Amino acid sequence: MVLISCLTACTVCVHMCLSVAGWFVKPTNSNTANNSDSSKYLREFLDEMQPDKIREHLRKFTRLPHLAGTEQNLRYAEQIRQEWLQFGLDSVELVPYDVLLSYPNKSQPNYITIVDQLGNEVFNTSLAEPPPEGYEDVSDIVPPYSAFSAKGQPEGDLVYVNYGRTEDFFQLEREMGINVTGKIVIVRYGKIFRGNKVKNAILAGAKGIIMFSDPADYCAIGVQPYPDGWNLPSGGAQRGNVLNLNGAGDPLTPGYPAKEYTYRFSLEDGVGLPKIPVHPIGYLDAFHLLKNMGGEIPPNNWKGALNVSYRIGPGFTDDFKIQKVRMNIHTDNRVTRIYNVIGRIRGALEPGWRPRRTIIFASWDAEEFGLLGSTEWAEDNAKLLQERAVAYINADSAIEGMYTLRVDCTPSLHTLVYDLTKQLPSPEEGEEEISLYDSWHKRDNWTNDRDAPRISKLGSGSDFEAYFIRLGIAAGRARYTKNKQTERYSSYPVYHSVYETFEIVEKFYDPSFKRLRAVAQVRGGLIFLLADSQLLPLDVNQYADSLRKYTQSIAQLAQKHPEEMETYKVSFDALFSAVENFTVASRDFHERLHTLNREDPLQVRIVNDQLMYLERAFIDPLGLPGRPFYRHVIFAPSSHNKYVGESFPGIYDALFDINDSAYPQKAWEEVKHQISIAAFTIHAAAMTLTPPA
Ligand SMILES: *[C@@H]1O[C@H](CO)[C@@H](O)[C@H](O)[C@H]1NC(C)=O
Ligand SMILES: *[C@@H]1O[C@H](CO)[C@@H](O)[C@H](O)[C@H]1NC(C)=O
Ligand SMILES: *[C@@H]1O[C@H](CO)[C@@H](O)[C@H](O)[C@H]1NC(C)=O
Ligand SMILES: *[C@@H]1O[C@H](CO)[C@@H](O)[C@H](O)[C@H]1NC(C)=O
Ligand SMILES: *[C@@H]1O[C@H](CO)[C@@H](O)[C@H](O)[C@H]1NC(C)=O
Ligand SMILES: *[C@@H]1O[C@H](CO)[C@@H](O)[C@H](O)[C@H]1NC(C)=O
Ligand SMILES: *[C@@H]1O[C@H](CO)[C@@H](O)[C@H](O)[C@H]1NC(C)=O
Ligand SMILES: *[C@@H]1O[C@H](CO)[C@@H](O)[C@H](O)[C@H]1NC(C)=O
Repeated sequence: MVLISCLTACTVCVHMCLSVAGWFVKPTNSNTANNSDSSKYLREFLDEMQPDKIREHLRKFTRLPHLAGTEQNLRYAEQIRQEWLQFGLDSVELVPYDVLLSYPNKSQPNYITIVDQLGNEVFNTSLAEPPPEGYEDVSDIVPPYSAFSAKGQPEGDLVYVNYGRTEDFFQLEREMGINVTGKIVIVRYGKIFRGNKVKNAILAGAKGIIMFSDPADYCAIGVQPYPDGWNLPSGGAQRGNVLNLNGAGDPLTPGYPAKEYTYRFSLEDGVGLPKIPVHPIGYLDAFHLLKNMGGEIPPNNWKGALNVSYRIGPGFTDDFKIQKVRMNIHTDNRVTRIYNVIGRIRGALEPGWRPRRTIIFASWDAEEFGLLGSTEWAEDNAKLLQERAVAYINADSAIEGMYTLRVDCTPSLHTLVYDLTKQLPSPEEGEEEISLYDSWHKRDNWTNDRDAPRISKLGSGSDFEAYFIRLGIAAGRARYTKNKQTERYSSYPVYHSVYETFEIVEKFYDPSFKRLRAVAQVRGGLIFLLADSQLLPLDVNQYADSLRKYTQSIAQLAQKHPEEMETYKVSFDALFSAVENFTVASRDFHERLHTLNREDPLQVRIVNDQLMYLERAFIDPLGLPGRPFYRHVIFAPSSHNKYVGESFPGIYDALFDINDSAYPQKAWEEVKHQISIAAFTIHAAAMTLTPPA
C-alpha cells in the first residue's frame, strides 16, 4: 500500500488529494495493465489536474475558520468524505481519536502587559490581529496564542535572547554572563521550531517566554504588508504549538492510539508540555516591549529591523527600571475529539483500471497541535503499516514562495523525483518549453556545480514524521518555495497569522494556480508510480551514496577533536566498513534487477519486498537516546530544531558541545556507543539486500 496525506489544517493542500482521488477511479476500457498502458495513464492522470479545479477546492476549504476539535472542522471532514465517495473511492471513513488540545479562554483573553510601581497596566499587547479585508465579519477566528502554554501570570524583567537557539543561550550564559533564572525571556521567531525555543528557555530557568515576529525575519525587502503585498503587517502574530513531543503524538497517550478506552497520563505527566507560560506577539507590540530595555547592546547578529537598540536587559533602562512585564495566560488544555478522513482505492489487476497497489488517502486532523491525527493513526495501524506500507507522500502547504520546487525525501526516492520532474512542464511564465526539472535545476544552481537540483533530508514539523522516523516507511514531500539565496525571511512572512488567506495565494503566490498544479503533479505522480510500477521505483544505490556522504561529514565533525579521538580511542572504521558493505550489497542488488525474470511473480515479489523493507531496516526498536519514538538511525529531526533533518542523529548528539562536557570520558564513550549502533544497523540493512538463501 502507498499512503498519501492531506491536511485539513493548512490552507494550500487539500486540493491535491481531491484532484488525485478524482482521477484514480476513472473507468477505463482496459482490463490488463502493461507498461505502456501505465505510462499512458500517468500522462492522462497528470493532465487531469487543472488550475481552475485547484482554485475551486482551495476556495471551498478556506472560507471558514476550522480549528481542530471544532464543529466546523468536523463539517469539513464530512465534506471531504462526501467528495471522495463521489469520486468513487472504494471506501472512506472518519476515524476519531480523543487527544489533548489547547484553546485560549474566550472570557479571559491572553495578553502581556507592562505594569508600573502602583500595579497599573500602562501598556497591553493586542488581544487579536486586525482582520484582513473581507474577513471583518468572520467570527471564531482564534486569536494568536501558543498552544499548550502553561497557565500563569509571571511577572519580572525581560531578557532578550535573539532567536532563542541553543547557541544564543550559550552566548548569553557563557559570553555575556547573564542568568535568566526567574526572568521572562523575549526571543524573535525564525531559524528554528518554536518548541525548541521554549525548551531552551525552560532549561535556562526562565519563568515565561514571549516570541515576536521581527520585520527582519518576516518582511521581504521592497514588499508591502498584506493586503497590498505579501509581507506580515505589524499587528500579525504567529500561532502554533510549543510542545516538545519528539514524535510522541497525543501527549497523554504516547505510543498508543488515543481511543476511548486508552489509559491517559495526568497533565503533569503529559509528554512535552511546557511548564511555563508562552505567548506570541507581532512587531508593533514587540516594539513597545523592547524600546525601553536596558543592559548591554548585543552583537550585530542579534539585531533585528525594529527601531530599537535590542539591548539584552535584564529589565528596562534606569528611567523605567520600576516597570515590570507581566504575562497573563489562561489557555486551557482539554481532551477533545478529532477526526481523520481515511479513503482507500484497492489495488489489483482487475476489470477497470486499478493501481497495482492499494492507495490510502488521509486527511489528517490536528496537525498544528503536534501532528496528532497522523501520529495516532500510525500508532493504531503500526502493525499493518510495518508489514505492508511501501511509501508515504506528504501534502502539507503546497506553496511557501514563488521561485521553484522544493523536495525533501528519503535517498531511495531521489531518482524517481528526478525522472518524474523531467516529464512535467515548468509552471513558470516564459518557461513553457522546458521541464519542471530544468526550471528547478536552473533556479537551484547556487550551491556550485551540482549535476542535479538539490533535494534535502526530511526534518519534521509535518505529518510524515511518525511514518518515516518511527515506522521506517520511505517518505517524501514537495512544495513550491522561495529563492533561498536572496530571500532571507523565515518560512513565509504571513505564516500562521490571520493574513494567510485564499486571497494571498490568488493575488500574489500563484495567480494562475499553475505552481500549485506543478506541486500536485509531483505529489500525485510519485504516488502513481509508487502504486503502479511493477518494480518499486526505489533506488538502493542512492541510499548508499547518501550514507557515504553522511559518514564522511560526521567523521569530519569528530576530527575536530583529534586529541580526544586519540585519548579515548574513538574510531569510525566500523561505520566506514558498514557503509562499504552496504555499497557493495546495493550495487549487487541493482545488478540483479537487470537479470530479473519479470514474468515470474515470485521473483518480482522477492525484490519488491527487499525494496519495501529497506527503509524499515534502519529502524532501531530501542529508539534514539532519550527519544524513544525517533527510531531511524540515519535520520531524525535535529534536537535543536525540529524543522530540519540531522543525519546520524545519535552520533551527532553525542558529539554536540562535547568540549563543554563535565565528564569527557563518559561523553566520548557515548560517541563510541553511537558509532557502533550506526555501524551495526547499516551492515544489517545491507544484509537485507542480499539474495534470499
Ligand atoms: C500494451 O499496451 C499497448 C498500448 O495500450 C499495446 O499496443 C500493446 O500490445 C500492449 N502490450 C502487451 C504485451 O500487452
Ligand atoms: C475561563 O475564564 C473564566 C473566568 O473569566 C472561568 O470562570 C472559566 O472557568 C475559565 N474556563 C476554563 C475552561 O478554564
Ligand atoms: C490594559 O488592560 C487592563 C485590563 O483590561 C486595563 O485595566 C488597563 O487599563 C489596560 N491598559 C491600557 C494602557 O490600555
Ligand atoms: C542562575 O541563578 C540561579 C538562581 O539564582 C542559580 O540557582 C543557578 O545556579 C544560576 N545558574 C548559573 C548557570 O549560574
Ligand atoms: C528611531 O527612533 C529614534 C528615537 O528613539 C528617532 O529619533 C528616530 O527618528 C527613529 N528612526 C526612524 C527611522 O523611525
Ligand atoms: C543560476 O540561475 C539563475 C536564475 O535562473 C541564472 O540567472 C544564473 O545564470 C544561473 N547560474 C548558473 C551558473 O547557471
Ligand atoms: C562488512 O563485511 C565484512 C565481510 O563480510 C565483515 O567482516 C565486516 O564485519 C562487515 N562490517 C560491519 C561493520 O559489520
Ligand atoms: C574543542 O576544544 C579544542 C581544544 O581543546 C579545540 O581545538 C576545538 O576546536 C574545540 N572544538 C569545538 C567543536 O569547539
